Amino acid sequence: MPRSQKLRVLFITSEVYPLCKTGGLGDISAALPVALRALHSDVRLLLPGYPQVMAGVKYKYKVAEFNTLSQFPPASLLSARLPLSGAGSIPVFVIDCPGLYNREGGPYMDAFGHDWPDNALRFGLLSKIGAILGSDTSPIAWHPHIVHCNDWQSGLTPAYLSFYSGEKAATMMTVHNLAFQGIFPPGSVVQLGLPPDSFDINGVEYYGNLSFLKAGLYYADQITTVSPNYAKEIQIEPLGFGLQGLLAARQPDLAGIINGIAITEWDPETDHYLIKNYNSKNLSNKTANKTALQQQMGLTVDAHIPLLGVVSRLSHQKGIDLLIQIAPQLIKMPAQLVVLGRGHPELEHLLSTLAQAYPKSIAVHVGFNEALSHLMEAGIDCFLMPSRFEPCGLNQMYSQRYGTPPIVHATGGLLDTVVDCTPVTLANHTASGFVFYSMTAASLLDTVKRAVLAYHNKKTWQSLQKNGMAKDFSWNASAMAYQELYRRLLH
Ligand code: ADP
Ligand code: GLC
Repeated sequence: MPRSQKLRVLFITSEVYPLCKTGGLGDISAALPVALRALHSDVRLLLPGYPQVMAGVKYKYKVAEFNTLSQFPPASLLSARLPLSGAGSIPVFVIDCPGLYNREGGPYMDAFGHDWPDNALRFGLLSKIGAILGSDTSPIAWHPHIVHCNDWQSGLTPAYLSFYSGEKAATMMTVHNLAFQGIFPPGSVVQLGLPPDSFDINGVEYYGNLSFLKAGLYYADQITTVSPNYAKEIQIEPLGFGLQGLLAARQPDLAGIINGIAITEWDPETDHYLIKNYNSKNLSNKTANKTALQQQMGLTVDAHIPLLGVVSRLSHQKGIDLLIQIAPQLIKMPAQLVVLGRGHPELEHLLSTLAQAYPKSIAVHVGFNEALSHLMEAGIDCFLMPSRFEPCGLNQMYSQRYGTPPIVHATGGLLDTVVDCTPVTLANHTASGFVFYSMTAASLLDTVKRAVLAYHNKKTWQSLQKNGMAKDFSWNASAMAYQELYRRLLH
């Protein structure tokens, strides 16, 4: 395909900021298409029509009906635009299927944290319509060259397309988190209209069940994941989660491309959630955000005490249990801790108990709060990310951009994006945070101590802040890497 020809890409995702976001995938689904469109690719999204999506998209109108997909309830396809500010208007296709998507609760779970019982059908339909739009049976005139799938929710698209013998788009499967695989009982294979013989080790079968993610990894033309380091880690145990053999076998088709961040949404100079904006030249303005955060969260207001913070899904992956173990020692340093998160009920409970025990030093906000997450990036001194594994991670990048050096475990994209503070890295101006290598409470505690010591040395701390703020976390290079892969796929 000549380079002058515009690439058409259908980007399938189960969440997108600001309409529906549970984690990093929501951010990426908003930012990467914008960056690719700036490179003149015609990228359009495909999304399930959850209530927030139906209410939030602009200019929607019906472009197709799917009444004869025997496995699925009737659905319509709407064409619309994403309500993104200042980023141009991203075209989006929305699947309107009230029976599967019109319900209160989250995209994957009900309000009690239980997976929706019909998730196989809900995301089977997303995958199926993605495949139809990528084939010459599509009812719409816009035909993508590439269908770009994200995580297990669109993992069946490459499988459906692979079983189709007509003209079709090339497929890319991006893994944002291998721990979520979309596993369903074997009966789902027929229920979803997959050929029975695809239920095989060389196919969609995963230890006796159907795995949406494995289907995507097996049948996609190209696999990517969200950092170079994670691309290596998933080819071996334990981070391969049982798929390491397949991923190692597909190594020639597997690329790790680091995520960027939306540098206009996450910019301390213009962020409207901050009390006072700042940049690397007037870092003293950052303090007003710290004071406001301490006040808002009921902590002792003190500009000099190191304020550590976490914004996270509360799950085993994120290593919050280690943080809970060391919390009493943090207070003795002294330091303060503020946590924004929701997730595992036991972690929510343990954190709330800590906040009750130390109300002036530890504050916990259980819930999802976009505004507070921005204020925290500006108001805290140091961001904690003790993740057991982290495919890319976004907050460590937001933190560096906000002059808030992160403390991270040496895993996945954290290792690719944070440079540990040592005499050597301070001297060559690359130091931007703190890295710990052993996933233990003792090792985390030692590293927090190292960070607190550095915090009290004004010159060191400012170097760390300025080094982090000077880094380029924009999508430019990574969007170009995706575009190159798309083009290679078409050869
Ligand atoms: P993951 O996708 O594994 O959750 P990432 O670091 O890639 O991790 O992205 C998490 C995103 O979700 C970030 O934008 C973070 O600020 C946001 N986030 C997580 N939990 C919350 C919360 N409770 N309130 C607001 N934002 C949150
Ligand atoms: C996942 C990962 C996270 C990554 C995000 C976006 O949810 O857990 O590390 O940053 O996807 O790719």
